[in-house]
Amino acid sequence: MTSRAGRSPFVAAALALAVAGHGVQGFAAGMTDAQAKSFMNATGCNGCHAVDEIRIGPRLRDVARRYRSERDAALPRLVTKIRAGGAGAWGLVPMVANPRIAPDDARAIVAWILALPVSEAQQR
Ligand code: HEC
Repeated sequence: MTSRAGRSPFVAAALALAVAGHGVQGFAAGMTDAQAKSFMNATGCNGCHAVDEIRIGPRLRDVARRYRSERDAALPRLVTKIRAGGAGAWGLVPMVANPRIAPDDARAIVAWILALPVSEAQQR
């Protein structure tokens, strides 16, 4: 396990939210919608993913739906997949590796994805 000196602004904000009791139904707080949006713009996830639109990768709402019943187990697996890349879960296109994304940031964005409301009717 690696540990880093200093925390990213994304994680600091997510922790602040968790402390404020703003977490999503007891699941890891992750990021706010605004933080997730700017993170995905800054790191390029948006090129391949959107919440409700299939791009090169799956809709993020579909990811949330698939892992809904096993979020705790899915979280570390998806963190690894974001940083190391991988294939085979959704189709033939592999997900590229994103090794420069810090583990804490990857955890925060995965927590946000997994906490997405799974139907549009439930949207925040
Ligand atoms: C170059 C395109 C591309 C980029 C950039 C990209 N992804 Fe993906 N992503 C994919 C594809 C393709 C898949 C489906 C892989 C598969 O079928 O296993 C995927 C799958 C995923 C999954 C589901 C994995 C699973 O095993 O179910 C998550 C979560 C995810 N991406 C998050 C992210 C995040 C967060 C970022 C930004 C840090 C990101 N992706 C950047 C293409 C991309």
